Amino acid sequence: MQAKYDTILVLDFGGQYCHLIGRRIREHGVYSEIVPHDISPEEIAALNQKFNVKGLIFSGGPSSVYEPNAPKLHPRILEVNLPILGLCYGHQLLAQLTGSKVEPATCKEYGIAQVAIDKPVGVLEGLSEKEQVWMSHGDTVFTPPPEFEALAHTENCPVAAFRHKTKPIYGLQWHPEVIHTENGMRMLQNFIFQVCKCQANWQMEDLIGKMVKELQTETAGSRAIIGLSGGIDSSVATALAAQALGDKLTAVFVDHGFMREGEPEQIRETFQKYPINFVVANAQERFMQKLKGVVEPETKRKVIGEEFIRVFEEIANESGAEYLIQGTIYPDRIESGFRKNSDKIKSHHNVAGLPEKIKFKKILEPLRDLYKDEVRKVARMLDLPKEIVNRQPFPGPGLAVRIIGELTEEKVTIGKKADKIVREEIERNGLAENLWQYFAVVTDTKATGVKGDARAYGYVVAVRAMESREAMTASFAKIPYPVLEKISTRITNEIPQVTRVVYDVTHKPPATIEWE
Ligand code: XMP
Repeated sequence: MQAKYDTILVLDFGGQYCHLIGRRIREHGVYSEIVPHDISPEEIAALNQKFNVKGLIFSGGPSSVYEPNAPKLHPRILEVNLPILGLCYGHQLLAQLTGSKVEPATCKEYGIAQVAIDKPVGVLEGLSEKEQVWMSHGDTVFTPPPEFEALAHTENCPVAAFRHKTKPIYGLQWHPEVIHTENGMRMLQNFIFQVCKCQANWQMEDLIGKMVKELQTETAGSRAIIGLSGGIDSSVATALAAQALGDKLTAVFVDHGFMREGEPEQIRETFQKYPINFVVANAQERFMQKLKGVVEPETKRKVIGEEFIRVFEEIANESGAEYLIQGTIYPDRIESGFRKNSDKIKSHHNVAGLPEKIKFKKILEPLRDLYKDEVRKVARMLDLPKEIVNRQPFPGPGLAVRIIGELTEEKVTIGKKADKIVREEIERNGLAENLWQYFAVVTDTKATGVKGDARAYGYVVAVRAMESREAMTASFAKIPYPVLEKISTRITNEIPQVTRVVYDVTHKPPATIEWE
């Protein structure tokens, strides 16, 4: 029998990075489950039948602990006597629950902060006197609770970290799970292995078998179709579904007309080689028709999400498929606001963009708990070709969310040409490998220029290049000026309708990667 995995439970208070905590724990070879914030000691005991629960992490969240409807812990949660780590909101809640006061900070901290480590013990063992951390909070713990001691402070936050004097309970005001916290992995490692005494007995390979089996159980011999865009997520989902369903699977590539130049042909070429049923739906006209007059970005995403489903339904009708499989990954779901206490950022086409009425028995999403780089690992384990594994992520709605305002044939053509130039120059200069995404955005602003001694009035194109590990946070890339200059010169020379090129220098947060 498979030994029970040592497991850390992450109590979900709705923070954008909650799931990332689970993922960072998995990176240490330790299993992790995300559970509701008000899980009871009895429910934890029940989970212990399946797993070896070794510790609890309270996640961050968008609420303030003193709001009337703020999500709370189960009142007997501290009685379970497991090691606890509270993060951000979880840290404040722990303080409140153990008798300290949480108040609005005199100066709110968002982004990178310097923290002074006063006592490098327990979770903070091995850290330097000064550490760079990622903060995002409006409230602060001003004094440690009676049985606790402070371990760290910042300029505006006197108790940035604390611990119980005798029990393995810790709180951190910052987010160790976010890569901008330089030694965040070390902090989590200290908690997992030193404080919780976990053994690293879980690995990624265990997931593949689990996902294939789940697809087989769910479809129970019926036919299914899968949306295949040629991106890494849907390609991996297709490979898994092909293992699970064999010839009962039809993969559908919807060409909505907003793909990058040359891409539909490339996808056709790659996937026609595989022993799967592969169908191309030429849907350019119907998408453009539905998007006529649509300006608002969320409406745009929803119209696209619905039209995808309608195309899938028509093909399912022909092939007798009852299930729809999608390559949805975790960040798509979190940004679409599927959790009770988290904010909706944008409707990813395959999640919140779905229509209410769907003619499928069920939508199956084998990758729903994974991040992009984990999907890449699975892709390598499945031996998918390099050009798919290393392809930069491309949103399902395609260039439609990179063309601001109403879509017109002219703007789509500009978008495709500009995107091609950005790709060519970034790749030619050897910069692609270190970038998460690089693309062009056709803004809805026009600007005056001078071309060939004559006044010109044309589009402003924005160039965006981002570095990231999993798209939950991202930094704009410091592209060398000569490369930006080449991109700008080529775009304004080769696309007559463009008079100006700007470079987007905004991180995520506060911006998102895509403009819409
Ligand atoms: P944002 O713009 O939310 O993007 O910071 C995060 C990552 O998700 C991709 N993205 C999407 N992918 N359907 C997708 O399949 C969508 O509707 C969608 N919207 C954004 C985006 O390209 C980035 O990698």
